[in-house]
Amino acid sequence: MKMLESSLELKIQGRTARVGIIGLGYVGLPLAVEAAKAGFSVLGVDTDAVRAAGVNRGESHIADVHTQVVRRLVESERLAAAASYDALRGADVLIICVPTPLTKSKEPDLSYVVAAAKGCVPVLRRDCLVVLESTTYPGTTVEVVKPALEASGLRAGSDFHLAFSPERIDPGNKTHAFRDIPKIVGGLTPACTRAVQTFYEQIVKRVVVVSSPTVAEMAKVYENVFRNVNIALVNELTLLCNRMGVDVWEVIDAAATKPYGFMPFYPGPGVGGHCIPVDPYYLSAKAREYDFHARFIELAATVNDSMPYYVLSRVTGALGARGKTLRGARIMVLSPSLKIIQLLEKPGAVVTYHDPHVPSITLTSPGETIYSVPLTDETLSKVDCVILATDHSDIDYQRLLDKAPLIIDTRNRLRGNTNSHVVRL
Ligand SMILES: NC(=O)c1ccc[n+]([C@@H]2O[C@H](COP(=O)([O-])OP(=O)(O)OC[C@H]3O[C@@H](n4cnc5c(N)ncnc54)[C@H](O)[C@@H]3O)[C@@H](O)[C@H]2O)c1
Repeated sequence: MKMLESSLELKIQGRTARVGIIGLGYVGLPLAVEAAKAGFSVLGVDTDAVRAAGVNRGESHIADVHTQVVRRLVESERLAAAASYDALRGADVLIICVPTPLTKSKEPDLSYVVAAAKGCVPVLRRDCLVVLESTTYPGTTVEVVKPALEASGLRAGSDFHLAFSPERIDPGNKTHAFRDIPKIVGGLTPACTRAVQTFYEQIVKRVVVVSSPTVAEMAKVYENVFRNVNIALVNELTLLCNRMGVDVWEVIDAAATKPYGFMPFYPGPGVGGHCIPVDPYYLSAKAREYDFHARFIELAATVNDSMPYYVLSRVTGALGARGKTLRGARIMVLSPSLKIIQLLEKPGAVVTYHDPHVPSITLTSPGETIYSVPLTDETLSKVDCVILATDHSDIDYQRLLDKAPLIIDTRNRLRGNTNSHVVRL
């Protein structure tokens, strides 16, 4: 056994270990690039053949990953991609980075993780290391991934290494580089932990070892539940401040001057993105198996889910103050918040959106596709109201201030502006 461990570790340290990354999205592609930059030979597998082909042409489909970097790594034969798991034959390290969404009824959907684990079965080798990076409920690595991999006839912890290591990447964040974000690792056995620790030590500055995959899984969901609950708290405070006529943004700025024991969170039109609205449900679903109701999570969801309705009430109020109703009002949303668009369209508003990063969206009901309109003097002159739902940095805010007749600023992007046509959340 000792021989096996050290042979994998030696391969990793000597960069002769071959690395397979499963799922080349926001998590998988940056990881593949970092591993290749560190000197490993990396093969990415993605069931989306278009994505895989793009990588092989040296192209990046992820904004944070520069195409030049991908091209350089592909040309130097450090990085390649495929749409089939067959290409993973001979891999020493297999890292699963596939989606973990919710079903329609907001239950965990582990079908991608299960498919990835099953896909690994024919290519699983003695002494290899399998790591799950997808965010999921505590227990997934041991209860779901381990049995799926053991269909190979090999045993996790004795024939191959198994571990969980959550990804903490924050797409678009330019402050925290991949290498600087500490990586938590938890292996099935001490040998699994050493193997996973050795691997990540080659690509990040700090590896944090915990006692099991389940602790690592819980740490990741706790991080996201923490954010979700704190966003809900400040959202609730916003509703109260509005009723009391107090400026919540001023309150947060003042409280944030406390040098310890406080961390500012900001209100918004509802939580978005891949993680914060999804991951807490993974934990609350698992908790129910233990007859445990994760009340903070449920309460946070209740408050956060009510925010689009609150935005709607503020829009209705601001239009009303100008003698207008929602019915027939022409409203532009900056960034396509689907829920808000849906709520506006129901009573008859005519909604458009602008987003430099999202050329089109398909609404679930009635299933129509709408396209981003340009943010010009002309388009702004044709609307009654603009809802600033996301504070992208590449928006011409001066033009917005000059030309939009009414702005509902849900992000306090236009802070400091006292113009009466700007209404803050
Ligand atoms: N995006 C983030 O900011 C972020 C941060 C931390 C953790 N996570 C977690 O990481 C995981 C991946 O998220 P993401 O944002 O990279 O997702 P993504 O949708 O950007 O990418 C997932 C990729 O996996 C591919 N895929 C799906 N099923 C596959 C399969 N069976 N085999 C191979 N490839 C498959 C998809 O085609 C896609 O390219 C999720 O669990 C997510 O919660 C995401």
